[in-house]
This record gives sequence, structure tokens and C-alpha cells, in this order.
Amino acid sequence: MLKPFPQPYYITQPLLPDINKTSEMIKMIWESKQLSNNGDMVKQLESELSDFLQADFLSVFSNGTVALQLACRVLRLSGEVITTPFTFAATVHSLEWNNIRPVFCDIEEDTFNINPDLIESLITRHTTAIMPVHVFGNPCDVGRIQQIADRYGLRVLYDAAHAFGVKVRDQAIASFGDISMFSFHATKIFHTIEGGALTFKDKYYKERADSLRNFGIGDSDNVMEPGTNGKLNEVQAAVGILLLPEVENEIARRKAITGLYRQWLEDVPGIAASRDIDGVTHNYPYFVVRVDEKEYGSSRDELYERLKGFNIITRKYFYPLCSDFQCYKYLPSSSRQHLPAANRVADTVLALPLHGRMLDSDVEKICAIIKSLHGG
Ligand SMILES: Cc1ncc(COP(=O)(O)O)c(C=O)c1O
Repeated sequence: MLKPFPQPYYITQPLLPDINKTSEMIKMIWESKQLSNNGDMVKQLESELSDFLQADFLSVFSNGTVALQLACRVLRLSGEVITTPFTFAATVHSLEWNNIRPVFCDIEEDTFNINPDLIESLITRHTTAIMPVHVFGNPCDVGRIQQIADRYGLRVLYDAAHAFGVKVRDQAIASFGDISMFSFHATKIFHTIEGGALTFKDKYYKERADSLRNFGIGDSDNVMEPGTNGKLNEVQAAVGILLLPEVENEIARRKAITGLYRQWLEDVPGIAASRDIDGVTHNYPYFVVRVDEKEYGSSRDELYERLKGFNIITRKYFYPLCSDFQCYKYLPSSSRQHLPAANRVADTVLALPLHGRMLDSDVEKICAIIKSLHGG
């Protein structure tokens, strides 16, 4: 008889920098007396992240949501922007905060990303951009999306919150589109507790984003436009500097755990694990399965509840769809008939625990429990 975990087994656990090294960094910051406002730690982090992500230009922010909101401003987006309903609330909210109408496009069932075949039919004279999300770090069809954008003169703003370190045929994910946003929230592979970054193709975009994150203040004492406070502070930047060298190991360990999950869940009827995509260097931010109620014998929601009984805390990620939120369900593009694939995926996905400190035996036990629950 399989026993529950003695403590709640959470879906993730943050990567933490060594406490002594963190204290040393904090001591340096205390001595410098500069705690915020583009200090040495922020400058160093921006330079190291530009190299790591192979970005032409990069700026860091207090979080990914503010970064996305400012990216819309930098690109002067307005009217309508085509995006996906299968994402975190912040993607769509950042449009709404800029008075832009989100237009939902359905997704591909294998990658969970925006379906490029369906984008063109949603373009109107009000469309200014496409805002795709690299969901769970799976890269979107970047080539096709750029072709469509070029044909219609649209901007491409990627929500790359999950895609830190991903490459497509050895090309860094930050090299696609006009701007990409990375989230550095504590639950992400690389983090600064809270934080985010934008990567830019154009130096002018970086200059505007840097001004916008600092209240719109220009080089001189002039305030150029209504910016906000989107600055990352020095202590958070120091956490980032300490964690960046750990990222490769974290991804390698997550890759190994993902391999074990795939192996041990392979023969469980009705549980379909995500797969790697040819030519992609993945970063393994989440381990997501789809539950086929008929074959497995329980629905996704039942499995979620039953795993809770074993102290395994999973997440219905992303459920509900953004198109089902109270604030967006009035949109014409939110109807279920318009988004059949997104609805099917949202009703069947379940993210299982994944982080670099998991033991092989924990993965084995979680898989054994899922297997034992087969048949209802
Ligand atoms: C897809 C997606 N977009 C945007 C965000 C917002 O990022 P942040 O939490 O850094 O504001 C997240 C956050 O987790 C996310 O998962």
C-alpha cells in the first residue's frame, strides 16, 4: 500500500543561492550605499544576462508583468493584439492595462502554443501586433509567426516567461520577434525572487524601456513620458548574479527528472507526458501531462484531488483559460467554439512536481501512485 508523503510535496521549490555568498554580496551593497536606481549589481546582471541569453540589448525590471506592460508601450501597440488564451493572466492583463483589446487565437494541441494557421484570419485593420507565449518553454513556430507579421506590418512581442535558456536549432530564443519578456519570479528556473527582463533587437527600444521603468525620466532632468517604477533593486540583482552560474546544472537535473517521469509513466493508460521537440534545446520548467478520462479511469480534476490525498500538490496549469476569466469572457474571441483546442487542453492538463532538488525516489513514488490510481 502506497503511503502519502509525510509533508506536502509542492510543485516546485526555488533555487536558492549559497547563504554565505549572498551575505558577502549584501555586505558589498551595504558598503556601496546604493540600493537601487541602476546600480553596479543591476548593470553587472544585465551584462551577464545579455551574454547568457545572446540578446542584442537587455534590461531588467521589478517583475515580468511590468516588463510586458512597458514592452507594449515601447512598441507603441494599440487597437488589437492577437494572443493566446492558454497562458498566465499577466500576458493578457498587460494588453488591457495599455487599453489594447486582446484577440484570442486557438492553440496547437501538441505544443500548447498559438496556432500559426489561425492567426491571419484574426487580423483586422486594428491589429498592431502578435503576442505569442512560449508555453512551458516550448518555442512557438517563430518562423511562420515572423512571416505573418512581416506580411501585415505587425510587431511581435514574445512572452518568453518560461523560456529562459531555450534554443531553436542553436539560435537563442531571445533572437526572435521585436521584444521578448523573461520572468524572474522565484518559481522560475532562473530568478531574482521577483523580477523580469526584456530583450530587444533595437537599441532605441532599450533606451525607451530604461526611461519608462524609471518614471519616464530621460537622460537629462526632463520627464519624457508617463513611465512607472519598474526598477529591480540591488539585492535582487545580486541574487540573480549568484544564481546564473547554477542554471545549467538546474536544467540538467530537471532534464534527468523529466526523463524518469516519462519512463515511469509511459505504460500508464490515459496519461500522456509532454515530449521534446526536434531541434530544440529545452529548459524543462514544468512537467505537464494530459489526462484522458476514458483511458485513465479518472478525470484530471479527480486525479488532482486524489493526488492531494497523497500530499502531492499538482497544478491545473493553465486552467481556467484567460478567455474564461470574468474580465475577458465578454470578448467575441473568447467563445468556446472559437477555441476548441485550448479548451480541450485546459480541461485535461496537470503539472506534476518538478525542481532540481527532487530525488529519483520521489519521482518513482509519484509515478507509482499515479499508476495505482489508474482504473478509478
Ligand atoms: C506566461 C507568463 N507570463 C507572464 C508572467 C508574469 O511574470 P511575473 O510573475 O514575473 O510578473 C508569468 C508568471 O509567472 C507567466 O507564467
